[in-house]
Amino acid sequence: MTGDTASLRRALAAKIGGGSLKDPAWRAAVGSVPRELFLGAGLFRPHGSLWEPVRRATVGEEEWHRLAYADTTWVTQVEGVDATEAVGPLTGRPTSSSTLPSLVVRTLEVAGIHDGDKVLEIGTGTGYSTAVICHRLGDANVTSVEYDSRLAESAAASLHTAGYAPTLVTGDGLHGYRDGAEYDAVVATCAVRHIPRSWRWQLRDGGSPHPSAAGWWRPA
Ligand SMILES: C[S@@+](CC[C@H](N)C(=O)[O-])C[C@H]1O[C@@H](n2cnc3c(N)ncnc32)[C@H](O)[C@@H]1O
Repeated sequence: MTGDTASLRRALAAKIGGGSLKDPAWRAAVGSVPRELFLGAGLFRPHGSLWEPVRRATVGEEEWHRLAYADTTWVTQVEGVDATEAVGPLTGRPTSSSTLPSLVVRTLEVAGIHDGDKVLEIGTGTGYSTAVICHRLGDANVTSVEYDSRLAESAAASLHTAGYAPTLVTGDGLHGYRDGAEYDAVVATCAVRHIPRSWRWQLRDGGSPHPSAAGWWRPA
């Protein structure tokens, strides 16, 4: 299944690697993780002020793969409605997406995440970024939290199909996940108004967590 898209994955990894990304291990992860699998059966394309649902079954496999391997953020849920459920274009706020791969790996690089680190990700979404982290660090070092139970279920299924088995938690990521602490880094793929205390407490000793525009926190 993933063999079909191997060349597209390699091309995306090469494109990202030719930019500002320095760490070849993150490039290798992009070259390995089948993003089409995490996009499921539908996504939303912006159309003026509307979100237009695009279905895999309608556009066909070739176009679907082209979309999957574009270095683009694809919105997968608008106001809680999944792209596969929408009967026509929607207005509203995106509530879940698959972040553009270059930003996923750039964030992880800027966070200084290296082999052997233990990472807590907040906002599993489709599970794509979770898979990228697992590819490098191994399942045992990755915990991801998603508060939408349907998205969490779908991400779990996609991760399983892709061969990854991180610790997946359904709940409010603002509480972190104490049972898996301590972590070397906390990566948030969702917006937060402030850094929750739980994240600070669940980071390993070694300094205060500090934020960056990219959305990561780790001890200094
Ligand atoms: C940008 S999307 C995730 C992108 C994802 N990492 C990927 O690569 O597909 C952000 C996700 O965070 C989830 N989310 C938002 N606030 C959350 C919270 N407080 N706790 C857990 N998940 C949250 C949303 O439901 C959404 O699925």
